[in-house]
Amino acid sequence: MLDTYAIRQDDMPQEMRFLLDQYPRDSWEAHPCFKEKTKHWLGAHEMFRRIAERIRLDTEGVLSKEVGLDDYVGRLSYYGGNLVGNLQGHHGWEDHSYFPELSAADPRFDLGLELLEQDHFNLDKVLSDFTRTANRVIKLSALDEAQAYDEAGDLHATSNTIEAFLKRHLSDEEELAVPIILHHRLRG
Ligand SMILES: [Fe+2]
Ligand SMILES: [Fe+2]
Repeated sequence: MLDTYAIRQDDMPQEMRFLLDQYPRDSWEAHPCFKEKTKHWLGAHEMFRRIAERIRLDTEGVLSKEVGLDDYVGRLSYYGGNLVGNLQGHHGWEDHSYFPELSAADPRFDLGLELLEQDHFNLDKVLSDFTRTANRVIKLSALDEAQAYDEAGDLHATSNTIEAFLKRHLSDEEELAVPIILHHRLRG
């Protein structure tokens, strides 16, 4: 399923990581410039990871019949809508506001920001497929249970893809952005 989508397989280029060597992840918390805004942004990432995992686990639950179909579609509608809506808003804000702020502070990392922006574009396609399939599962749950389960199988593959995508994208993004923020004392 992963190869159906244009998911970046490569790590961030090494030349995008030199500030990270100076500000490794385990030093962020204690840094005086690690402020609320940055903590909230990282908190949003954590929420995306958790909701994506929740959706995948719920889907495994319904496929193994541990979770009832009605129960599942209620949760899918809630968590699916939450994940897609919040991710789209988050990406739009990063593309139009956050990345330009980082680039203005330190243009040496523009190549990394461009890769992240491309990730947003590619993930958007996965999210729209996810929305389409989730809506089919919800609709079919009332019309044709067997077909609803088939669609839930497809949705499981798509939710795996979203999780894998987020795993790479969010940690690369954090490791590019937070060192720039700390180094240039941004977002205080
Ligand atoms: Fe992002
Ligand atoms: Fe982000």
